[in-house]
This record gives sequence, C-alpha cells and structure tokens, in this order.
Amino acid sequence: MSGECKRITGSDIATAAQNTTLPNPLRLSAITIDDISAICTLSKTVFPDNPTEGSYLKAILTEGHGGGLVVYDGAQAQAFIFCEFNLKTKRGYISEITVLPDLRGKGVARTLMNIMIDLSTAHGFKTMTSNIEINNTASIELHKRCGFEIVKQLDEYFDDGAPAYYLKRSL
Ligand SMILES: CC(C)(COP(=O)(O)OP(=O)(O)OC[C@H]1O[C@@H](n2cnc3c(N)ncnc32)[C@H](O)[C@@H]1OP(=O)(O)O)[C@@H](O)C(=O)NCCC(=O)NCCS
Repeated sequence: MSGECKRITGSDIATAAQNTTLPNPLRLSAITIDDISAICTLSKTVFPDNPTEGSYLKAILTEGHGGGLVVYDGAQAQAFIFCEFNLKTKRGYISEITVLPDLRGKGVARTLMNIMIDLSTAHGFKTMTSNIEINNTASIELHKRCGFEIVKQLDEYFDDGAPAYYLKRSL
C-alpha cells in the first residue's frame, strides 16, 4: 500500500457539505457532538431494536476516527451517514446510512454516500466497506449504484443471528 493517507477532519466534511446543495428546506452539515441526540432519535425511528448508540458516535468523533453528514429539516434530523476511517489499512467503513421514509427515493442517500467516497478518495484511502443485512434490498442496491460489490456473506453477523453481506468499493 503506497501513497499518503490523511485523516478526514470535521472541517473537511463541513466544507464538502457547504459545497453541496439539497432541495429546500433541507440543510446538510458535518456531524458534530451536538448532532448526536438528533441522529440517535432518527436511528431509533428506523431501527427501533438496534439503533446507533450515542456513546459509539461520541467515541469515534472524539478520537477523530470517523465522521459523517446529517440532513436536517428544521431541528429534526432526516438522514445521516456515519463512517469510520482506518489510516493504517487505508479503509473507510460505512457504519450507518439512514434516510427517513418520507425522504427516500430522492437521491439523498446517494448524495451522502458520494460525498464520503469523494472525500475518502481525496485523502488517500483505498477502499470503502460496508456490512448489510442480506434482505436489505434498498441498501444493497444503493451500495451497488455507488460502485460497491458484494464480496462475501458473513454468517450470524447481527445480534439476532441474521447474516450480512460484506461489500467493498475500491477508491
Ligand atoms: C437504503 C436507504 C438509505 C436508501 O436511501 P434513499 O435516499 O431512498 O436512496 P436514494 O434515493 O439515494 O437511491 C439511490 C439508489 O439506491 C437504490 N435504491 C434505493 N432505494 C431502493 C429500493 N427501495 N429498492 C431498490 N433500490 C433502491 C437505487 O438504485 C437508487 O438509484 P436510482 O434512484 O437511480 O434507481 C433507505 O432506504 C433507508 O434509510 N433504509 C433504512 C435504513 C437502512 O437500511 N440503512 C442501511 C443499513 S445501515
């Protein structure tokens, strides 16, 4: 693995967000500690049994090992993507991408994903990965549309024993 790989900071993500236009009244910004509560509320709405934990987001943001984007309509988070980055392996990992049902099918997830892919590429990362429940057609198709390929199945990946696909995209 040659070439320099640089940390993606909150301000790198904020700049990318500022350069992206979403339809009114949606507002896009880089995820900070202040957004954790709104993001957890959103994640809990979509995944009531297995939402993203605020403590996880806080730890990754505080340690500088990851970040993401959040879409607001007023005070309510409508969509977000959160990624972890490993400078050693030059890999990014999408830990969650979620859009509220009313906003789906409008290209929001693809926009969020492409921003993180472009940032990762520009910072010297070589791959992006994601683990998706094998029946989650929408997410699998979204990832394929963004250049990911299914690499293998991970048996009993989730707490309830459900398998996942491990997907990868070269950058
Ligand atoms: C998966 C999810 C994030 C997609 O968000 P979205 O904003 O509706 O997706 P987009 O509108 O950007 O769609 C981009 C591409 O994804 C694919 N896609 C999205 N929803 C799809 C669906 N229901 N069925 C099949 N393909 C779908 C399509 O290829 C689409 O491209 P196209 O419009 O050119 O055909 C959204 O359905 C969601 O939040 N699901 C619940 C949470 C979840 O499962 N997250 C992933 C696991 S962490």
